[in-house]
Amino acid sequence: MQNSRRGAVDPFIVMDVMEAARQAEESGRSVIHMEVGQPGTAAPAAARDALTRAMADDPLGYTVALGLPALRQRIARLYGDWYGVDLDPARVVVTPGSSGGFILAFSALFDAGQTVALGRPGYPSYRQILRALDLQPVEVAAREENRLQLTPEDLEGVAYDGLLMASPANPTGTMLDRDALAALIGHAQARGASFLSDEIYHGLEYDQRAVSALEVSDDVCVINSFSKYFSMTGWRVGWLVVPEANLRQVERLAQNLFICAPHAAQVAALAAMDATDELEANRAVYARNRALMLDGLPKAGFDRIAPPDGAFYVYADVSHLTDDSRAFARQILDEAGVAVTPGLDFDPDRGAGTLRFSYARATADIEEGLARLARFMQARRET
Ligand SMILES: Cc1ncc(COP(=O)(O)O)c(C=O)c1O
Repeated sequence: MQNSRRGAVDPFIVMDVMEAARQAEESGRSVIHMEVGQPGTAAPAAARDALTRAMADDPLGYTVALGLPALRQRIARLYGDWYGVDLDPARVVVTPGSSGGFILAFSALFDAGQTVALGRPGYPSYRQILRALDLQPVEVAAREENRLQLTPEDLEGVAYDGLLMASPANPTGTMLDRDALAALIGHAQARGASFLSDEIYHGLEYDQRAVSALEVSDDVCVINSFSKYFSMTGWRVGWLVVPEANLRQVERLAQNLFICAPHAAQVAALAAMDATDELEANRAVYARNRALMLDGLPKAGFDRIAPPDGAFYVYADVSHLTDDSRAFARQILDEAGVAVTPGLDFDPDRGAGTLRFSYARATADIEEGLARLARFMQARRET
């Protein structure tokens, strides 16, 4: 048996950090988790209750490939509520997480060998999923003066068939305002390229609301998920919004690739969408954590950061402290008892000089983590 060349994707370094943190905890050490990219909270109570009820009298077999009609309608309503966009529920496709959404969207929109432009730093699985599908990621370095988001200027001279952007982004949490987003959509459309907008962190913004690509154009593919704002990572449910012209192709692929997203998760997701009080309470915790991080990290000595607009990450330039972020993260885990993610996952070039801190956990953990980081940096300065 041979392994395929396209399947030889890179490992996810944050997983190695998580494993090292687990081992430290197993040996009795206390670890504050600032490496994880997921809420510490459960799915909303209403979601769990809805599933309990459904399990009593519904066999929870396959759903239709595009998802439960009620869930598709409810998602379409969200676009009215959040963005004032009137969306036809027929364009909503429920997927097994946004990860399943990427596989569907990339398969539906691109042929083998085609190119998809991405900003660097960015969520690492974009390029790995593209490679696994025999597509070519074209990573373009984003500039610090643009808060590590791409601009049309960065894309001048770059040939691409698709452009994938995220706002708020992982690892930076920075957002594109309406004009910046419209400029990128215009750049892609002028070249006849597809525009894909990863909106998985929408709902988790703190000062200004995030703009959906659907506010700018109907001819875009939006990818979203119940993993982050709706606090349902392990349930594996997300969605796409696709142009009408692509819908039938996406449906045929969904039927064959996945049959459907998990039925149980779809039932829970539908109820989660009305759990506004609980979800907003979660967001209030992140807002508090963010304020603590923006105060505490610079005080500890991590002062080269762009304040994040959304998500639950702070991306710090630590190139004045190390040229090996992986070893530095290991040292922070060993000596401070705080797990953080080296930037190499997000940016193989500049990531040796960056770290990502997640503030998705409880506020008490964030306070303790910041205190530990401050002591660690103090001790480092004294040696
Ligand atoms: C930017 C971004 N997109 C997509 C995903 C995938 O999420 P899921 O498959 O749980 O929807 C993640 C996960 O961390 C992410 O950070």
